[in-house]
Amino acid sequence: MKVGIPREVDPLERRVAAVPRTVRKLRELGFEVMLEKTAGKGAEFTDDQYTEVGATIVDAETIWSDSDMVLKVKPPTPAEADQLREGGRVLSFIHPAENDELLEHLAARKATVLAMDCVPRITRAQKMDALSAMAGVAGYRAVIEAAHAYPRYFAGQMTAAGRVDPAKILIIGGGVAGLAAIGTARSMGAIVRAFDTRLAVKEQVESLGGEFLVLDFEESGEGEGGYAKVMSDAFLEAEMALFAQQAIEVDIIITTAIIPGREAPKLITAGMVESMKEGSVIIDVAAEKGGNCSLTVPDKKIVHHGVSIVGYTDLVSRMSILSSRLYASTLVKMLEEMGGGENFSIDRENEVVRGALVMQDGEITWPPPKREETKPETPAYAEDFGSRPLPDSEEAASIAKKEAVAAGAWKAGGILGAILLALVIGLWAPISFVEHFTVFVLACFVGWQVVWNVSPALHTPLMSVTNAISGIIILGGMLHLSTEANTAAIVFGAFAVFFATINIAGGFTVTRRMLAMFRK
Ligand code: NAI
Repeated sequence: MKVGIPREVDPLERRVAAVPRTVRKLRELGFEVMLEKTAGKGAEFTDDQYTEVGATIVDAETIWSDSDMVLKVKPPTPAEADQLREGGRVLSFIHPAENDELLEHLAARKATVLAMDCVPRITRAQKMDALSAMAGVAGYRAVIEAAHAYPRYFAGQMTAAGRVDPAKILIIGGGVAGLAAIGTARSMGAIVRAFDTRLAVKEQVESLGGEFLVLDFEESGEGEGGYAKVMSDAFLEAEMALFAQQAIEVDIIITTAIIPGREAPKLITAGMVESMKEGSVIIDVAAEKGGNCSLTVPDKKIVHHGVSIVGYTDLVSRMSILSSRLYASTLVKMLEEMGGGENFSIDRENEVVRGALVMQDGEITWPPPKREETKPETPAYAEDFGSRPLPDSEEAASIAKKEAVAAGAWKAGGILGAILLALVIGLWAPISFVEHFTVFVLACFVGWQVVWNVSPALHTPLMSVTNAISGIIILGGMLHLSTEANTAAIVFGAFAVFFATINIAGGFTVTRRMLAMFRK
């Protein structure tokens, strides 16, 4: 089976749908690979690099007429679609909701079309999730563009000439791009605040070192399948009042707010821009969906009242070597999912393939029918950070309420029982026992609080602390073993030494494994 990779025709697009290392993988999967001459130029790959790994270099016409499957980055233009051979296949970003004309042209060619932007965001499909891979790059690049346009430091500095405060950055939208931007801005030393309509994002923002701004408003932004939903006008107004306040304080705003399949909500007004300090920067990552800032001009950087507003829609393309590699590898995984070159098939029972299938033999198959039996999974990015979807119906909410009341009753009963037990022990037990028992209870309480209140990101340093505590336990246990005071003390001493040793050995093993992940 032949796959063909044309040169992208959009002048701003520097990515390419195959890089030398993915060509090698495609060959291993049993595909013949053809590339249009200079297809990899925008990403700094030469034709020779491709031929060395077994690709054939041909002209554009041959790609469209001879390929069994055309691999692209941007949706084909109608003119490109017209060149596709009858019954040909295309795997690319398609954005079917916004590209009716293209679909008509492809249908006329009786094409089979798979859209990388329609791959469902479920755990199993993570390796094929081209949208997330690209949004991660866009979030990173947005911060780099902000640093470029911002005339001061990101991190605070104490210099002989005076103190420089760190930059304050507001990130709107905590999806994949927003979270990548938070991580990057934090690592460059800025103070980061973030807002999202989905409260599930709070934990993720905080684990990356950002401050999550909370709106005092009873409405959840959690839509179907964990995606955002359209918010009420009242919510948007309250949200914009928050941004108006923030605009006066912060130096940089990076906006990434979108709802799939819709125009980006306008959240930053001209008035807010004018209230920002001179030299401030707005990076509108949502520019390609119309922008979150009312003054954004797509593909341009403008300056309004001393504030730079950047509306580049080619953020990902500005890092074309990396983004081509990431995108091309999602394509390889997708082709692997479809059986590779030898056993290629379009299996409608496969939920990833079915999700991405937009057209089969000229017949439009998008959007895929909803399956009653397969409830949508939590989107992979939300799952990664350990968030959980909010109850989405009144019934679920009432069950949750009952469960909360029952849990409260158990908790109160437990506390009462503990108080009674302490009373009985205090009144009747020998004084030495009470002393030891108090230390034991406090140790349990402190241990419990330490483990459960530490964020997952700090579990490794926590392990070192618990290893130190285990060391003390081993010493105590050994003392009991050596005194031979009584059998019970010896048995408990032996237990203490045994379990604390497991903890220390386990701690070292896990740490070793984690360190190995960072070694080349
Ligand atoms: P996503 O769907 O993962 O995240 C969008 C986030 O915005 C969600 O968390 C959602 O809850 C939030 N949101 C929606 N309405 C909101 C509101 N009114 N207020 C606050 N938050 C709100 O999307 P992803 O993948 O992070 O992409 C973000 C943006 O980046 C999109 O506009 C996408 O088109 C753009 N993008 C741009 C690229 C470029 O080169 N310029 C490349 C890749 C993505």
